[in-house]
Amino acid sequence: MRVLGIETSCDETAAAVYDGQAGLLSHCLHTQAQMHAEYGGVVPELASRDHVRRLLPLIHTALAEANTQPEQIDGVAYTAGPGLVGALLVGGAVARSLAFAWGRPALGVHHLEGHLLAPMLEATPPDFPFLALLVSGGHTLLAVVRELGDYRIIGQSLDDAAGEAFDKTAKLLGLPYPGGPALAALARSGRPGKFQFPRPMLDRPGLDFSFSGLKTAVVVATRDVQLDEQTRADVAREFQQAVVETLVAKCARAATQTGMSTLVVAGGVGANESLRTELAALGRRAGLKILYPRPEFCTDNAAMIAYAGYRRLARGEHDELKIRATARWPLDTLRPPLHSS
Ligand code: KG4
Ligand code: ZN
Repeated sequence: MRVLGIETSCDETAAAVYDGQAGLLSHCLHTQAQMHAEYGGVVPELASRDHVRRLLPLIHTALAEANTQPEQIDGVAYTAGPGLVGALLVGGAVARSLAFAWGRPALGVHHLEGHLLAPMLEATPPDFPFLALLVSGGHTLLAVVRELGDYRIIGQSLDDAAGEAFDKTAKLLGLPYPGGPALAALARSGRPGKFQFPRPMLDRPGLDFSFSGLKTAVVVATRDVQLDEQTRADVAREFQQAVVETLVAKCARAATQTGMSTLVVAGGVGANESLRTELAALGRRAGLKILYPRPEFCTDNAAMIAYAGYRRLARGEHDELKIRATARWPLDTLRPPLHSS
């Protein structure tokens, strides 16, 4: 079975072709980051309009690169949520229309299920069950993944997501959008120990996260200091260290509590080098196998949507003739294929 996947939930327009036998055949992406940069964050209406402009040419390219004619596509998967509703509607409308025109099934996919399954596109895919840390711009959560569609959330952020905290702190430091990668780059020249930031919620039992206090601590610490280049780097380094230590400590706790021996890390912040280094150390200490998607599949992409869609379409699941777009959609309401209500 060969599936066209479409992603338009936020500020990336992407299309990919996944084949059940041959694997990933193509993936194309256009990022709107530069367009939104002058506003300091994603402007939803601009995002939707740009998806309209970009999506069809990207689908053409993805099909051409996959050497695939439309009649060779057996199903179309698209991100149906969570995300910006206008942006989601663009991908949903195009996907549903193409599937209808081609006489093929369409399926709305959960964006976070895509992120969780992204490591399965790699050469050493995880086996079910596994523990997952999902750290993106909109979500921070720890989940036990028993099988496709069986996700038990055991910890999550009570306020800002980890990526959001990176982005907001980057903004405070005057860095361009998107802030996470820019802050991580600046942190490299930071000196250790120049600032002290809290490790939120580590002193409490449980697996939930909270990052908004950390952002406030940065505001307070930088209020009366001269923010020259070196000082900004020092702040970036300590901020990153605080987030990374908090994430790693909760992963260690979750592994002990659940007895799981594999940890899958997904979502944009999973591309962070410092997080990867510290998690590798945890893996060695705790005998935990740590698996990631390749860095370009940590952030938003259509390969993960094509793959998640393939897994469900191949089990006979598909939608009726309607376009689905759900801005808020809790991950733990998903069910395994064919058991969906
Ligand atoms: O998964 P993703 O592409 O989009 C969402 O679904 O949210 O994640 C984007 C988030 C942004 O907050 C971005 O700043 C962050 O991931 N991010 C990073 C890095 N690369 C992306 N944060 C820290 N370090 C990075 N290297
Ligand atoms: Zn995402």
